Amino acid sequence: MAALIRDRTTAGRTTVLGLATGGTPIPLYQELIRLHREEGLSFANVVTFNLDEYLGLPKDHPESYWSFMHHNLFNHLDLPPQNIHLPEGMVAESEIPAHCAAYEAAIRNAGGIDFQILGIGRTGHIGFNEPGSPKESRTRRIHLDPVTRQDAAPAFGGLENVPTHAITMGCGTILEARKIALMAWGSKKADIVREAISGPITDQVSASFLQEHPDATFYLDKEAASALG
Ligand code: PGA
Repeated sequence: MAALIRDRTTAGRTTVLGLATGGTPIPLYQELIRLHREEGLSFANVVTFNLDEYLGLPKDHPESYWSFMHHNLFNHLDLPPQNIHLPEGMVAESEIPAHCAAYEAAIRNAGGIDFQILGIGRTGHIGFNEPGSPKESRTRRIHLDPVTRQDAAPAFGGLENVPTHAITMGCGTILEARKIALMAWGSKKADIVREAISGPITDQVSASFLQEHPDATFYLDKEAASALG
């Protein structure tokens, strides 16, 4: 990622990153901060689009992805605030389709995503594309799977506080990224990682669509890889 940013900056071009939240990308974000602080990697020519945001959470809610990204990455880089994009969690219901269409247009106008980072949920979701999300799906409102809400419950202090819906880039949006890196750590991810990599390509496991992407790489630790043959 650093090489891509440096090469494109040297060529006078911006780099468009697709970013993820959750525990998985935190080591990556810590390394990007280190590269910025210690090795002068500049994000002045970087544009970012996050995968998703909870519906109903204001930006300053501690569990909003806006808060997560600023706390864990953006506040520590020289990334211009106007280059940062996340779906808006407080968008009025009637404005959701227009908001999602504008998000898609902003990605297109930026030239598309050069490098997309992904985690994987235990439902196989990438972004919040829960089982049943079509391969061609675009940015939209999604109903969160009970497994996903359960996994988020500790951070929210109880299941009843976890939002029921989110806005997420669609599978089709994600798959248009020119380069994709999915990361997964720990034994809890082993079964779904196996399904995503060696199971059928199915909308029941949205990460399985990555099998057909020309430049997608899975980065796994030993535990997350432990169910692979
Ligand atoms: P995690 O979530 O990084 O917190 O494990 C991944 C995901 O749900 O996509």
